[in-house]
Amino acid sequence: MSKIKILFVCLGNICRSPSAEAVFKDLVKTKGLAEEFDIDSAGTYAYHEGEMADRRMQQHAIKRGYNLTSISRPFYPNRDWDKFDYIVAMDNSNFTDLRAMARNEADLKKLHKMTNFSSRFNYDHVPDPYYGGYEGFELVLDILEDAGEGFFNYVKKQE
Ligand code: 4NP
Repeated sequence: MSKIKILFVCLGNICRSPSAEAVFKDLVKTKGLAEEFDIDSAGTYAYHEGEMADRRMQQHAIKRGYNLTSISRPFYPNRDWDKFDYIVAMDNSNFTDLRAMARNEADLKKLHKMTNFSSRFNYDHVPDPYYGGYEGFELVLDILEDAGEGFFNYVKKQE
């Protein structure tokens, strides 16, 4: 059986999408389904390419048991639209940027926004924590844990 391939995308791929990747990997592992999924993350902006996740984001994540191991890389339209089944944007500008890079209707069908799967929070985007303080990083994780469950349920229904 081929794996379900999911790509989480933010701006820099050093805060929100590496966290989404780690939270969702943990979620499917807890459900005993890790082998069914191929999960990755990317940024719409290549500035941080090759870097580990932001140290502050790593520190907040590890307190909840998430080890952020991914290395920042840009979104590669030709490769990533073909490879992934679900491409999940963290905020509205990521969503708009990805939509502009879609090559056809089939690509657009793969595009989602993370907060559409949230049930406990009313945010219409995962707020960028980069220039903010402590609470921003915790909020990212809170939203991702909530929306991750909703997204998992959505994916299972599609498959
Ligand atoms: P991310 O956060 O998109 O969640 O990885 C940011 C990382 C870097 C910058 C902005 C947001 N930056 O301006 O460099």
